[in-house]
Order: sequence, then C-alpha cells, then structure tokens
Amino acid sequence: MHNSLRNDFPFFANNPGLVYLDNSATSQVPACVIDRLNRYDLLEKASPFRGLYPRSVQATDDYEHARDLVRDFIHARSSQEIIFTRNATESLNLVAYCAGGTLIHPGDEILVGITEHHSNLLPWQQLAKRTGAAIRTLFCTRDGSFRAEDIDRAMNEHTRLLAITHMSNVFGQINDLQSIAQAAHSRNVLVVADGCQSVPHIPVNVSELGVDFLAFSGHKMLCPMGIGVLYGRKSLLESLPPFLTGGEMIEDVTMDGAVWAPLPQKFEAGTVNTGGAIALGEAVSYYNRVGFEVMMAREAALTRRLMDGMAVIPHVRIVGSSDPDRHHGIVTFTIDGVHPHDISAIMADQGIAIRAGHHCAQPLHAYLGINATSRASIMFYNTEAEIDAFLTVLSEIRGAMGYAD
Ligand code: ALA
Repeated sequence: MHNSLRNDFPFFANNPGLVYLDNSATSQVPACVIDRLNRYDLLEKASPFRGLYPRSVQATDDYEHARDLVRDFIHARSSQEIIFTRNATESLNLVAYCAGGTLIHPGDEILVGITEHHSNLLPWQQLAKRTGAAIRTLFCTRDGSFRAEDIDRAMNEHTRLLAITHMSNVFGQINDLQSIAQAAHSRNVLVVADGCQSVPHIPVNVSELGVDFLAFSGHKMLCPMGIGVLYGRKSLLESLPPFLTGGEMIEDVTMDGAVWAPLPQKFEAGTVNTGGAIALGEAVSYYNRVGFEVMMAREAALTRRLMDGMAVIPHVRIVGSSDPDRHHGIVTFTIDGVHPHDISAIMADQGIAIRAGHHCAQPLHAYLGINATSRASIMFYNTEAEIDAFLTVLSEIRGAMGYAD
C-alpha cells in the first residue's frame, strides 16, 4: 500500500538518489493532479464566468466544483467562505489589508503568537503601522505549547485579533484552536489561523474549530505552486471591503463607483487561477481516496522512527517536545558545535534534502535563543529506508566536522 502511494509521485522515479525530507517547505505532486491540470490547460482552457459558450461554462463549473471540494475538505459551512488566492501568504495579507478601518482601529491590539511564520506576522505589523494599532506577543512554553492562562493573560480590553498557527512549522505542535477560539471569542477577539502545516497533514474542521479565518497553500498539499485558500466566516467576509479591485469582482460599475459582487467573487478580482483551483480539487480528491487515517498512521510511524533514532545520537538536540506524537512529521534540531548550514550541506552531499535556517520564524528562534536550526519534515510517501539514511548521515556529521565524539 505504502509503496504504491509513492508510485503515484513521478518525482521519486526522476530523483532515485534523493531522500526528500523538506515536505513542510513544499510537498511533491501526484501524477493525477498534474494530469488534471494538463487536461484543463491543453484541452479545456477557457475563461470561467465570462463566456456563455460551453467551454467557458464548463470551466466555471469545474472551478466551482473545486471550491465545493475544498469546502467539504475543511468542513466550511458554505462555498462562499472559500476564497481562492495565490497562497497562504496572500490569504493572510488579504485579511490584514481589509481589516484596517473595519476590524482594526487606532489603539487596538493585535496579539500574535511567537511561533508565527513571518507570513502571519509581517502583514499584522504593516496593518498596525497603517492603523495606529499595536502588536503584542503571545509567548509559548519551551516545547511550543500555549497555556490557557497565558492566552487569557495576554488578552485585554484593547485586543481585537489573535494571529496564531494551527501547527507550528518549527515545533510540529498542534495548537488547540477550538479552546483558543472560545477564549478569544468570549473577549470579542477574532482568530486568524495559519493552517499551512495542519491542513495537509490532519483533518481540519473549521466549523468545529470556530476560527474566524484560516489560510493554507496548495503547494504543501500535493499541488503545484500558485494556488492557495482563505477560509473566512461568511458574515465577516461580507463586512470587509475588497482586497484587489478589477474585473469579475463587481456587480455593477459606473464612472463614479461600483457595487461589489457577492462572495466569494468579491475577493477574486481578475482572471482567476482556474487550472490551479481544479488541480487543488484533484489533490483534495486524492486525499479523500487515500484517507487521512492511512496518511497519518504512516507519518506518525516515520516520525517515531526518526526521533527514536535521533535520541540515541550524541549531541543532537530536538527543538520542542521529545514526544514524537506531538511533532506530526516536523522535527527541528541542532547538533552541538555544528552550524545548521553545514548540517544541511553535508546532508545535501549525501543526497538528503532538509531545510536549514530560521524557517521564516526568526522571532521564535530569537526567543528560543537559537540562531538557526535544521529541519527534517515527513510526508506519508517517505520510507523507512529514507529515515534510516538520514539517521546514518546525522550520526556521522560531528565526525565529518572534525569532532572526536
Ligand atoms: N513555510 C515553509 C516552511 O516552513 C516555506 O518551510
């Protein structure tokens, strides 16, 4: 079963010597997704929404079907709550841009998790500058968890919005967004969640979580780059002004103004990424066919094998919890006396792809007192042999750097 899943990904046949453990940066793409994208681009391409001829109508139907698939995948209540964007970064920028003067006013506070990827921090910094609001930091424990009492203490009568990740791209830790959203809403604080790492790896139910917005990218969940999603609560999306203006997001235009189209078109100005959305729909169908149960069991077993192996290699330190079940395939680490770029370069020499640096979470690294780290990240298509190859090289790195032990 597992080997047959790997066979769905042509990347591996094309890169037989490569151990790909950089899945949190971007995942590989199954052939069915590319086939579907090619079918649209080569055989079916037409501009959706604009034409009355059959190809255009079909493109509209296929684009909207993809939206419905995404809606069901994350259990949104309505397809109007699903906005297609370029990626999670654009989704988060959309909310932050539109929130100025509507959700956020001078004197308000925006609470941002210390764990946040820069894409869920910088848009809020810019919003704060534009509006005269302030940024406050919500700190986590050393293992990456947020304690209820800390969240409660961090919110005050000025707090309007909490920006927080569902699954940290450094710790792999899942935040209990349901409790966090309940605590936030009891104080009239909105919750904007980064779902980049969670949506590709665990079932996500936005209606149960109760978050107000959730952003994620297609390229981390078996899709090509260039398509992303913003989920937003319908009443909130309706209350916001548009992000970009232009074609297809209007109901009526005069030389003096315009009436915006209803959701979701209000937030999808210009010719949309039809092929990308259809490809994302196909990726969702792939998830549905294989099932999270299979994927998660596979990723959990591989994470355990990885962390058990790392635990017995001297001088290797895992960032965050020592419990593999709390890492969800993301294992960030340091080796005493070795710079993460050297670790990554030695790994690369041996055909192993990992990420090194601050993983777009520089404030978190500063908070942890670490300049940089290395990160191995797993997807269900990885194999035990790949984990073992990584562990063998890991155990040799200090020796390669001239250390005696
Ligand atoms: N956000 C991606 C990562 O964590 C790029 O690697």
